[in-house]
Amino acid sequence: MARHLITSALPYINGIKHLGNMVGSMLPADVYSRYLRQRGHDVLYICATDEHGTPAELAAKEQGLPVADFCARAHDAQKAVYDGFALAFDYFGRSSSPENVEITQHFARKLNENGFIEERAIRQVYSPADGRFLPDRYVEGTCPHCGYDKARGDQCENCTRVLDPTDLIDPRSAISGSTELEVRETKHLFLLQSKLQHEVEAWVARHEDDWPQLASSIARKWLNEGLHDRAITRDLDWGVPVPADTWPELAAEGKVFYVWFDAPIEYIGATKEWADQDPENRDWKAWWYEADDTVRYTEFMAKDNVPFHTVMFPATELGVREPWKKVDYVKAFNWLTYYGGKFSTSQKRGVFTDQALDILPADYWRYFLIANAPESDDSSFTWEHFTATVNKDLADTLGNFVNRVLSFSKKRFGEEVPAGGEPGAAEARLGEEIARLLAEYEEQMEALQFRKAAAALRALWSAGNSYLEEKAPWLEIKTDKEGAALTLRTAMNLIHLYAVVSEPLIPATSAAMRGAFALPDDTATWVGAEEARALAAVPAGTPFTVPPVLFAKLTDDDLAAYKERFGGEEG
Ligand code: MF3
Ligand code: ZN
Repeated sequence: MARHLITSALPYINGIKHLGNMVGSMLPADVYSRYLRQRGHDVLYICATDEHGTPAELAAKEQGLPVADFCARAHDAQKAVYDGFALAFDYFGRSSSPENVEITQHFARKLNENGFIEERAIRQVYSPADGRFLPDRYVEGTCPHCGYDKARGDQCENCTRVLDPTDLIDPRSAISGSTELEVRETKHLFLLQSKLQHEVEAWVARHEDDWPQLASSIARKWLNEGLHDRAITRDLDWGVPVPADTWPELAAEGKVFYVWFDAPIEYIGATKEWADQDPENRDWKAWWYEADDTVRYTEFMAKDNVPFHTVMFPATELGVREPWKKVDYVKAFNWLTYYGGKFSTSQKRGVFTDQALDILPADYWRYFLIANAPESDDSSFTWEHFTATVNKDLADTLGNFVNRVLSFSKKRFGEEVPAGGEPGAAEARLGEEIARLLAEYEEQMEALQFRKAAAALRALWSAGNSYLEEKAPWLEIKTDKEGAALTLRTAMNLIHLYAVVSEPLIPATSAAMRGAFALPDDTATWVGAEEARALAAVPAGTPFTVPPVLFAKLTDDDLAAYKERFGGEEG
């Protein structure tokens, strides 16, 4: 069995994420991890909060909290939501951890020793009123490209162009609002990415044929534009300090590393955190160091993150000149939109992950989001689509099947899986169909094609419905009691198979389905083709219970209430 290292892009610490964020990184990574674990692979799924940078400092200021306190609370709040979504991380760390500080500083020292870091003096915005330099978002002003007057120092939200704070027209401090700003000279560390261009190119060339087109085309575009040297330090209070042993002067000035330098390193840092909190995980380095042939590393992210993961972080890893594991497969996602527009925190449009769980349990969201993952293109969330999907796929096709079969059998045959009848042509056909659809589902999962995997799962559920309609045990029982028992027993075996193979998408519901049968030593271990064809893993005589309704049907009133609360198409 292979060893699979899996990471999802680290969510920024400042604020609870929306559904678009969830479907573009953490949720598919969790689905894939769960699938591989069930198939017996050794999986390590790592994520963390991305805690440094100006957004964290500004959010802390807004809440009147020291930034360390703010981050500690915000980390716990995000973790609680992810637990609610049943994300089964092996570890969910923090980029501000001592482990990440240690590894980030080590990377910087090595890059320096290898000639890939240089100290340069640059001109930066300084605010005498605030007594400090104002990096990135600490400066706001008018965009020189489009005239938008609330552009931030790192990027214009309106035209999306990347900016330097000194580019802004009529700049003002985001802290005090002061417009008496100066430009002063100060020293920073630069990562000489231009020197690594050829190596990164060669590395990408070796991998891009395996990557999905979305990832390789973005990597190509960046490489074609040329890798530029970039500043990897900032004047901030909060961040990984520049190590004093190597850069005493910059350390004394309180410089810290730029958030995009230490964040990807936290994939490694969090793995060490995982090891440090449990001695059993001591060999964490085996996942990352000299692990090229033994570990398959898959990263999940939205498309805006692709350049950092396909070009910049690999450049850093290459420049360190130590055998750190580099990504094998980059799974990138487009955007989930809200009624075709942007999810917007400030305008309160769209659905945030904590609100989603207030309304309905995680499985409703997990299934809908995976079935509509923005893979080949952006996809749009609408309440109409969401409620219709829940009703059709989850409530009718799956939930109703389970309930009908178990309640009817209990009523007519009692609380054990009924005995009697010999499988015939209908069961043989069903077995073939199930084995074929299961193979399709596995193939799509292995290919990380989540929409298609969800479609195959849905087809598995539908096959059960077709079988039940064909055999109609509620009629059959009037003339052929043994036949009805066979039909119901076969349908119960389908339920158990659904429980196992639906687990990656809807783990709580799967547990409820599996738990309906009192099978000794039952596990969620994956179903083999033969077992799927035979549909006999749950033998006659197995005690069962009827679980409560698995999925509630959503009404027109529910739909109206959701649209009222969250905003609909107008907006
Ligand atoms: N916090 C970043 C974002 O949300 C992602 C960081 S991914 C990492 O866009 F690799 F850098 F950690
Ligand atoms: Zn602009």
